[in-house]
Amino acid sequence: MPVIAIIGAQWGDEGKGKVVDLLAQQADVVVRFSGGDNAGHTVINPAGEFKLHLVPSGIFSPRVTCIIGNGVAVNPAVLIGEIDTLNERHVDTRRLFVSDRANLIMPYHILLDGLEEDARGGKAIGTTRKGIGPAYADKAARLGIRAGDLLDKEAFLERLHHILDAKNKILTKIYGLSPLSLDEVYQQYCQYGERLAPNIRETTAILEEALNKEKLVLLEGAQGALLDPDFGTYPYTTSSSPLVAGGCLGSGVSPKRINRILGIFKAYCTRVGEGPFPTELKDATGNMIRERAHEYGTTTGRPRRCGWFDAVAARFSHRINGYTGTAITRLDILDTLPTLKICVAYKVDGKVLNDFPASVTTLAKCQPIYEDIPGWQTPISHIRQFNKLPLNARNYIKRLEELISCPVNLICVGAEREQTIQKSPVL
Ligand code: GDP
Ligand code: IMO
Ligand code: MG
Repeated sequence: MPVIAIIGAQWGDEGKGKVVDLLAQQADVVVRFSGGDNAGHTVINPAGEFKLHLVPSGIFSPRVTCIIGNGVAVNPAVLIGEIDTLNERHVDTRRLFVSDRANLIMPYHILLDGLEEDARGGKAIGTTRKGIGPAYADKAARLGIRAGDLLDKEAFLERLHHILDAKNKILTKIYGLSPLSLDEVYQQYCQYGERLAPNIRETTAILEEALNKEKLVLLEGAQGALLDPDFGTYPYTTSSSPLVAGGCLGSGVSPKRINRILGIFKAYCTRVGEGPFPTELKDATGNMIRERAHEYGTTTGRPRRCGWFDAVAARFSHRINGYTGTAITRLDILDTLPTLKICVAYKVDGKVLNDFPASVTTLAKCQPIYEDIPGWQTPISHIRQFNKLPLNARNYIKRLEELISCPVNLICVGAEREQTIQKSPVL
């Protein structure tokens, strides 16, 4: 059995949670591999409606083992809260494991994320202020504390002492704050360690065993390709890689094991936070989409910026991920519109640009060149077969397939698990 990577193909919030929950019904293992509780994955299934930030969206399928991989930045307080909430709602979390190599979000990461954002003023990134950037910066600087560190209290105290000294210098000397207490942070994180000890594992061994037994493994992406720190709209990006390559790094699954790469696209585009967004609609249509789709951040509640489907960005996303298929979500949101627009190229400084530029200064100057597609103006949420969709909806999907040069496997026409059309098999 294969590994399927489920990858956010735009700026996040494409509906990864819904698709993972759907596919997890056939899976054995689901692994989150990047990001932290900046992610918010909504799942609506017979157990209810859930907003997951760290726990993989496969947790609702009883035989699935869920792994929070080494590439995830884990805030232990958030994870414990999420486990408790799931348990209160009778969701079994005994099959949930956290990689001992996963870096932890520490209190100073959250403080520094906020302080750095405030210091950026008009140039703020619009982060979720969950400590993500500072945590991954510390990982690269070899100043991270990992989940496994909590299991050896003596060594943890020594390492925390050394790191907190350095962080307190920044907090007090640069930002004029009071220092964090070593004892308080230590005691707090020891408690988290005791609570999470049964879940902390060497997770690559679990994965290897599953793969050797031909089990189906899903890699659950967080964020989206255009938020990747290398290929996204840098510096308006996140700090870990949401790409399929990040899926290998963040889980320990070899690239040669990955059989399918499913790119999750919304039928339009959204973005939370700052940074250029060529097809953004700052008009009544954008507001209509936001309200109809309730486009407000799952994690921060911020209104999401809404715009037309950007095929230039989509082609780039396909180039750097190599999707074997796509899922188009939220097609139903476009039901009422008389005409839809797809951005097929950009115009910048009088020239046509077919490629997604590296520079945000260039991207900010890009004017979308649109193609009009007639709308279907009829509800589609009840439809389960591609050939039952209105002709104009089928034409819209077919045009997306042509423009991205990738087959559409799934079409989502509502937030619930079964509100999905399989146009062609994912596997
Ligand atoms: P994720 O971060 O990629 O998992 O996506 P989010 O959960 O942040 O945002 C996607 C939103 O779209 C959630 O509220 C989902 O319940 C919802 N959703 C997913 N697919 C569909 C769909 O096809 N139609 C509608 N109307 N909502 C959908
Ligand atoms: P899911 O997994 C949408 C955005 C933030 C901000 C930028 C950097 O739900 O799709 P960060 O806190 O990561 O340093 O913020 O990235 N961002 C997301 N946008 N969906 C997400 O996750 C996001 N995670 C981070 O809004 O613009
Ligand atoms: Mg989300």
